[in-house]
Amino acid sequence: MKKAVVTGIGGYVPKGILTNKDLETIVDTSDEWITTRTGIKERRIAAKNQVTTDLALEASKIAIKKAGIRPRQIDYIIFATATPDMLFPSAGCLLQHKLGAKNAAAFDIAAGCSGFIYALSIAEKYIECGSAEHILVVGAEILSRIVDWSDRTTCVLFGDGAGAVLLSAKNGDRGIISTVIRSDGSYGDLLKLPGGGSLFPPSYESIDNKLHYIKMSGNEVFKKAVKSMEDIAVELLETNGYEGKDVDLLVPHQANMRIIQAVQKRTNIPENRTYVNIHKYGNTSAASIPIALFEAEERGFLKERDLVLCIAFGAGFTWGGSLIRW
Ligand code: COA
Repeated sequence: MKKAVVTGIGGYVPKGILTNKDLETIVDTSDEWITTRTGIKERRIAAKNQVTTDLALEASKIAIKKAGIRPRQIDYIIFATATPDMLFPSAGCLLQHKLGAKNAAAFDIAAGCSGFIYALSIAEKYIECGSAEHILVVGAEILSRIVDWSDRTTCVLFGDGAGAVLLSAKNGDRGIISTVIRSDGSYGDLLKLPGGGSLFPPSYESIDNKLHYIKMSGNEVFKKAVKSMEDIAVELLETNGYEGKDVDLLVPHQANMRIIQAVQKRTNIPENRTYVNIHKYGNTSAASIPIALFEAEERGFLKERDLVLCIAFGAGFTWGGSLIRW
């Protein structure tokens, strides 16, 4: 059986920077509160004329170039996002056109901040069962367009960006070892964007009631995120015969520094083997893990054959993880 090996990885963040100090002038918050509660110092904000697939295009071009293939060789594009350019056509199809990936089937995954892991899990299966040679997995978001800039409990947390990996079918023991995904829809109310769907289609009323913005019960999400991410990390290691000490790099979803520290403690993976960039980008949802993987590789923290553990948690609730022999 061939394995899904990462042969190329790319990342892109928009140039615009919004610092905690800038936020102090927008809502009643402080650099000190945001830094100590979340670890975030600044985040990137897309330019007015950029859409999510523009960010995705930049990241994808890097991943495809590194993989040394042509866009026409891509069999599938799996696009994880909570902020597609529009409801349909899918961001996957829009990106397919921008890339000229004419032979790819393209679709979107809606699993909030766990979207990249969900997409990875699907790609892994297509490759392992022999129905694909090359798959582009993308996580991209422009969350700045769906945050309520008058709500200090959410607007300080999120940022914009994109990451992409090119997975190729290869013989050998490198590649995705195992991916696990989970969900529990009974928690749906704690993190949602209620407007714009069939429940609350756009109306003057839905706009007056700010239904097109993220609503989150931060503290409840936090508690469940810690437990779920810890549990999935331990499960992935144990079922595959590894311990925390075997992991070369932990790449967690970058939502809150305190969540990351809790996972480090439970899995015994030290700080110097955990990739963190939350201070620069905040929570970029489905884009956070591929951006972190891209940066880690660029900066020499990620080498061939390293054991990499990626874990995420998001709206749904959804959570999951992937263990990869890089
Ligand atoms: N600046 C200053 N004060 C703020 C604030 C801000 N930006 N946001 C909230 N506060 C206040 C609250 O109003 C509250 O005040 P009160 O005690 O007077 O009522 C106080 O800070 C504590 O709020 P709480 O929500 O209990 O804080 P917290 O320690 O849970 O931290 C989050 C808040 C959002 C940082 C944290 O809950 C979190 O990270 N949650 C998970 C978010 C997440 O990961 N979401 C995406 C899914 S992965």
